[in-house]
Amino acid sequence: MTEAQLRERVTELGQQLAVDYADRAPLVVGTLKGAVVFMADLVRAMQPLPDGMHLEFLRASSYGLGATERRGSVTVCATAPTKASGLAVAGRHVLLIEDIVDTGCTAAVLLERMRAEGAASARLVTLLSKPSRRVIELAPDYCCFEIPDRFAVGYGLDFDERFRSLPYVGVLRPECYATAQSGSEV
Ligand code: IMP
Ligand code: MG
Repeated sequence: MTEAQLRERVTELGQQLAVDYADRAPLVVGTLKGAVVFMADLVRAMQPLPDGMHLEFLRASSYGLGATERRGSVTVCATAPTKASGLAVAGRHVLLIEDIVDTGCTAAVLLERMRAEGAASARLVTLLSKPSRRVIELAPDYCCFEIPDRFAVGYGLDFDERFRSLPYVGVLRPECYATAQSGSEV
C-alpha cells in the first residue's frame, strides 16, 4: 500500500480509537521494532487525545535473523520492566500495537500475559494481518489491512533489519529472500 493509503487508513483508525477510548485512558503498548512507525502515526491520529493515554514498548521476537519463517518460541522483553515479566499493566486498558499478525503466536502470548498481569482490558491493534497464516485462532480487534500470504516490508516492517524506513508497504520478491536486494510497492 502507498503512503496515501496508509495515511488515510491509519488516520481513520486513530479517530475510531479516540472515540472508543475517550473515557478509558489507554496504555498503548508497541512491539519493537516493527510497530514503531505505525504507532507514531496512530497515536498522533488519536484526536482528541484520550485523557491519560500513556505509551510503552515491548520487545518481542519470534524470527531468526534473515528468516521469513518463525521459530517456535516467542521471547518477550519490556524496555522499562517494572515487573519481572513485563510492564505495569494492572488495572489499565491496554492497546497492544503490532506491525503484523502472522501466525498469531506473538500477539496471543502478549495478550495472555497482559491479562494474567491484571490488565482491565487488552485489545489488539495491527497494521497488517495475514489471516491465512494463523496457527492459533486470533482475530485482531482493530486491523488496518488484511493481506495475502506474502512477505511485507516497509513502514516499520523489516527483512533482516532492512526496509523499515520505507514510507510505504511493499512485498519482498521471493528471489530477494536470499539476496535481500529490494522491496516492490504494492
Ligand atoms: P506471528 O507471531 O507469527 O504473528 O509473527 C508476528 C511477527 O512476525 C511480526 O511482528 C513481524 O515481526 C514478523 N512478521 C510476520 N510476517 C511478516 C512479514 O510479512 N514481514 C515482516 N515481518 C513479519
Ligand atoms: Mg514485529
